Amino acid sequence: MNKKIKIAPSILAGDFGHLADEAERAEEAGADTLHVDIMDGHFVPNLTIGPQSVAAIRKKTRLPLDVHLMISDPLRYADEFIRSGANNLTIHLEIKKDISSILRYIKSKHIRCGLAVKPGTPFEDAAPYLEKIDLLLLMTVEPGFGGQKFISEVIVKIEKARQWADQHRRSFDIEVDGGINSKTVPEVVRAGANVLVAGSAIYGASEMKDAITQMRTLAEQSKEK
Ligand code: DX5
Ligand code: ZN
Repeated sequence: MNKKIKIAPSILAGDFGHLADEAERAEEAGADTLHVDIMDGHFVPNLTIGPQSVAAIRKKTRLPLDVHLMISDPLRYADEFIRSGANNLTIHLEIKKDISSILRYIKSKHIRCGLAVKPGTPFEDAAPYLEKIDLLLLMTVEPGFGGQKFISEVIVKIEKARQWADQHRRSFDIEVDGGINSKTVPEVVRAGANVLVAGSAIYGASEMKDAITQMRTLAEQSKEK
Protein backbone atom coordinates (compact mmCIF):
# COMPACT_ATOMS: atom_id res chain seq x y z
CA MET A 1 0.00 0.00 0.00
CA ASN A 2 1.26 3.42 -0.92
CA LYS A 3 1.03 5.40 2.31
CA LYS A 4 1.65 9.13 2.58
CA ILE A 5 5.08 10.05 3.89
CA LYS A 6 4.88 12.08 7.10
CA ILE A 7 7.81 13.92 8.61
CA ALA A 8 7.59 14.08 12.39
CA PRO A 9 10.16 16.24 14.17
CA SER A 10 10.75 15.03 17.73
CA ILE A 11 10.54 17.98 20.09
CA LEU A 12 12.80 16.07 22.50
CA ALA A 13 15.66 17.60 20.54
CA GLY A 14 14.18 21.10 20.78
CA ASP A 15 14.93 23.86 23.27
CA PHE A 16 13.10 22.90 26.49
CA GLY A 17 13.08 26.50 27.61
CA HIS A 18 10.82 27.35 24.67
CA LEU A 19 8.88 24.20 23.86
CA ALA A 20 5.78 25.87 22.44
CA ASP A 21 7.90 28.06 20.16
CA GLU A 22 9.78 24.99 19.03
CA ALA A 23 6.48 23.38 18.04
CA GLU A 24 5.52 26.46 16.06
CA ARG A 25 8.91 26.43 14.36
CA ALA A 26 8.37 22.82 13.22
CA GLU A 27 4.97 23.72 11.77
CA GLU A 28 6.39 26.68 9.88
CA ALA A 29 9.20 24.51 8.54
CA GLY A 30 6.71 22.12 6.93
CA ALA A 31 6.39 19.22 9.40
CA ASP A 32 3.35 16.94 9.04
CA THR A 33 3.04 16.02 12.69
CA LEU A 34 4.92 16.74 15.93
CA HIS A 35 6.36 13.82 17.87
CA VAL A 36 6.26 14.34 21.64
CA ASP A 37 8.22 11.95 23.88
CA ILE A 38 6.85 11.29 27.35
CA MET A 39 9.18 9.45 29.74
CA ASP A 40 8.52 8.44 33.33
CA GLY A 41 11.96 7.51 34.65
CA HIS A 42 10.64 3.98 35.17
CA PHE A 43 9.87 2.42 31.82
CA VAL A 44 12.91 4.28 30.51
CA PRO A 45 15.81 5.78 32.48
CA ASN A 46 14.91 9.38 31.65
CA LEU A 47 12.21 11.95 32.44
CA THR A 48 10.63 14.50 30.15
CA ILE A 49 7.34 16.36 30.29
CA GLY A 50 3.75 15.80 31.39
CA PRO A 51 0.28 16.83 30.20
CA GLN A 52 0.61 20.51 31.22
CA SER A 53 3.51 20.97 28.86
CA VAL A 54 1.67 19.12 26.08
CA ALA A 55 -1.26 21.51 26.59
CA ALA A 56 1.11 24.48 26.31
CA ILE A 57 2.49 23.07 23.04
CA ARG A 58 -1.06 22.46 21.79
CA LYS A 59 -1.87 26.15 22.15
CA LYS A 60 0.93 27.17 19.81
CA THR A 61 0.48 24.73 16.91
CA ARG A 62 -2.17 23.11 14.74
CA LEU A 63 0.09 20.17 13.96
CA PRO A 64 -1.25 16.80 15.06
CA LEU A 65 0.50 15.84 18.31
CA ASP A 66 1.90 12.32 18.09
CA VAL A 67 2.43 11.45 21.75
CA HIS A 68 4.86 8.60 22.40
CA LEU A 69 4.25 7.30 25.92
CA MET A 70 7.39 5.68 27.30
CA ILE A 71 5.66 5.15 30.61
CA SER A 72 4.78 2.02 32.60
CA ASP A 73 1.19 2.97 33.37
CA PRO A 74 -0.31 4.76 30.35
CA LEU A 75 -3.91 4.14 31.39
CA ARG A 76 -3.40 6.20 34.52
CA TYR A 77 -2.49 9.28 32.47
CA ALA A 78 -4.37 8.70 29.22
CA ASP A 79 -7.28 11.04 30.02
CA GLU A 80 -4.95 13.88 30.93
CA PHE A 81 -2.94 13.54 27.76
CA ILE A 82 -6.13 13.41 25.70
CA ARG A 83 -7.42 16.55 27.44
CA SER A 84 -4.11 18.25 26.79
CA GLY A 85 -4.66 17.86 23.04
CA ALA A 86 -2.90 14.65 21.97
CA ASN A 87 -4.10 13.40 18.58
CA ASN A 88 -2.40 10.07 18.95
CA LEU A 89 -1.37 8.09 22.01
CA THR A 90 1.23 5.39 21.45
CA ILE A 91 1.84 2.87 24.21
CA HIS A 92 4.68 0.35 24.54
CA LEU A 93 4.06 -3.35 24.14
CA GLU A 94 6.70 -4.15 26.77
CA ILE A 95 4.85 -2.55 29.72
CA LYS A 96 3.36 -5.91 30.72
CA LYS A 97 -0.20 -4.62 31.02
CA ASP A 98 -3.42 -5.55 29.25
CA ILE A 99 -2.47 -4.00 25.92
CA SER A 100 -5.78 -4.76 24.15
CA SER A 101 -7.88 -3.04 26.75
CA ILE A 102 -5.64 0.06 26.84
CA LEU A 103 -5.79 0.32 23.03
CA ARG A 104 -9.56 -0.08 23.20
CA TYR A 105 -9.79 2.65 25.80
CA ILE A 106 -7.77 5.08 23.69
CA LYS A 107 -9.92 4.33 20.63
CA SER A 108 -13.09 4.90 22.66
CA LYS A 109 -11.89 8.48 23.20
CA HIS A 110 -11.89 9.09 19.44
CA ILE A 111 -8.20 9.68 19.02
CA ARG A 112 -5.70 7.52 17.14
CA CYS A 113 -3.97 4.74 19.00
CA GLY A 114 -0.48 3.46 18.44
CA LEU A 115 1.61 0.53 19.59
CA ALA A 116 5.38 0.87 20.00
CA VAL A 117 7.97 -1.88 20.17
CA LYS A 118 11.59 -1.72 21.25
CA PRO A 119 14.31 -2.82 18.81
CA GLY A 120 14.65 -6.27 20.40
CA THR A 121 10.93 -7.10 20.54
CA PRO A 122 10.00 -9.45 17.70
CA PHE A 123 7.38 -8.47 15.14
CA GLU A 124 5.38 -11.58 16.04
CA ASP A 125 4.73 -10.19 19.55
CA ALA A 126 3.03 -7.13 18.04
CA ALA A 127 1.08 -9.03 15.36
CA PRO A 128 -1.94 -9.93 17.56
CA TYR A 129 -2.73 -6.22 18.05
CA LEU A 130 -2.34 -4.94 14.51
CA GLU A 131 -6.03 -5.13 13.64
CA LYS A 132 -6.73 -2.65 16.42
CA ILE A 133 -4.21 0.10 15.84
CA ASP A 134 -3.77 3.19 13.70
CA LEU A 135 -0.01 3.29 14.02
CA LEU A 136 2.83 0.86 14.65
CA LEU A 137 5.96 2.50 16.04
CA LEU A 138 9.11 0.49 15.42
CA MET A 139 11.87 1.89 17.60
CA THR A 140 15.18 2.03 15.77
CA VAL A 141 17.12 2.87 18.95
CA GLU A 142 16.56 1.87 22.58
CA PRO A 143 13.93 4.29 23.89
CA GLY A 144 15.04 6.94 26.38
CA PHE A 145 17.39 9.33 24.67
CA GLY A 146 17.82 11.27 21.47
CA GLY A 147 20.96 11.29 19.38
CA GLN A 148 21.64 7.54 19.37
CA LYS A 149 22.81 5.38 16.50
CA PHE A 150 20.24 3.72 14.24
CA ILE A 151 19.96 -0.06 14.81
CA SER A 152 19.86 -1.54 11.31
CA GLU A 153 18.60 -4.95 12.46
CA VAL A 154 15.15 -3.35 12.74
CA ILE A 155 14.89 -3.10 8.93
CA VAL A 156 13.70 -6.70 8.68
CA LYS A 157 10.94 -5.92 11.20
CA ILE A 158 9.79 -2.93 9.13
CA GLU A 159 9.56 -5.21 6.08
CA LYS A 160 7.56 -7.78 8.02
CA ALA A 161 5.16 -5.12 9.27
CA ARG A 162 4.62 -3.69 5.76
CA GLN A 163 4.08 -7.19 4.37
CA TRP A 164 1.57 -7.96 7.09
CA ALA A 165 -0.31 -4.70 6.46
CA ASP A 166 -0.45 -5.37 2.70
CA GLN A 167 -1.56 -8.97 3.12
CA HIS A 168 -4.28 -8.04 5.60
CA ARG A 169 -5.25 -4.87 3.75
CA ARG A 170 -4.67 -2.77 6.83
CA SER A 171 -3.61 0.83 6.47
CA PHE A 172 -2.00 1.64 9.82
CA ASP A 173 1.00 3.94 9.70
CA ILE A 174 4.43 2.41 10.14
CA GLU A 175 6.55 4.85 12.09
CA VAL A 176 10.28 4.67 12.80
CA ASP A 177 11.95 6.53 15.63
CA GLY A 178 15.61 6.84 16.51
CA GLY A 179 18.67 7.71 14.44
CA ILE A 180 16.56 8.78 11.45
CA ASN A 181 18.48 11.16 9.16
CA SER A 182 19.31 11.61 5.49
CA LYS A 183 21.48 8.48 5.59
CA THR A 184 18.88 6.17 7.10
CA VAL A 185 15.71 7.55 5.46
CA PRO A 186 16.12 5.66 2.14
CA GLU A 187 16.46 2.24 3.76
CA VAL A 188 13.57 2.65 6.21
CA VAL A 189 11.25 3.94 3.49
CA ARG A 190 12.26 1.16 1.08
CA ALA A 191 11.47 -1.32 3.86
CA GLY A 192 8.00 0.18 4.23
CA ALA A 193 8.05 2.93 6.88
CA ASN A 194 5.95 6.01 6.13
CA VAL A 195 6.17 8.12 9.30
CA LEU A 196 9.68 9.37 9.95
CA VAL A 197 10.46 10.70 13.42
CA ALA A 198 13.63 12.73 13.65
CA GLY A 199 14.95 14.70 16.61
CA SER A 200 18.60 15.66 16.17
CA ALA A 201 18.48 15.57 12.37
CA ILE A 202 15.71 18.21 12.31
CA TYR A 203 16.10 20.31 15.46
CA GLY A 204 19.88 20.11 15.18
CA ALA A 205 19.93 21.31 11.57
CA SER A 206 21.01 24.86 10.85
CA GLU A 207 17.93 25.31 8.62
CA MET A 208 15.00 23.25 9.81
CA LYS A 209 13.03 23.84 6.64
CA ASP A 210 15.84 22.51 4.46
CA ALA A 211 16.26 19.46 6.68
CA ILE A 212 12.55 18.60 6.42
CA THR A 213 12.42 19.22 2.67
CA GLN A 214 15.50 17.10 2.08
CA MET A 215 14.13 14.27 4.19
CA ARG A 216 10.80 14.36 2.37
CA THR A 217 12.44 14.37 -1.06
CA LEU A 218 14.67 11.45 -0.15
CA ALA A 219 11.70 9.54 1.23
CA GLU A 220 9.54 10.15 -1.85
CA GLN A 221 12.37 9.05 -4.12
CA SER A 222 12.98 5.89 -2.11
CA LYS A 223 9.28 5.05 -2.18
CA GLU A 224 9.29 5.09 -5.98
CA LYS A 225 12.19 2.67 -6.27
C1 DX5 B 1 13.91 8.27 21.96
C2 DX5 B 1 12.74 9.02 21.41
C3 DX5 B 1 12.94 9.64 20.09
C4 DX5 B 1 14.06 10.63 19.99
C5 DX5 B 1 14.72 10.42 18.66
O1 DX5 B 1 13.49 7.48 23.02
O2 DX5 B 1 11.62 8.17 21.32
O3 DX5 B 1 11.73 10.21 19.60
O4 DX5 B 1 13.67 11.97 20.08
O5 DX5 B 1 15.83 11.21 18.58
P1 DX5 B 1 16.88 11.15 17.36
O6 DX5 B 1 16.13 11.43 16.13
O7 DX5 B 1 17.87 12.20 17.73
O8 DX5 B 1 17.47 9.76 17.37
ZN1 ZN C 1 9.78 8.90 20.36
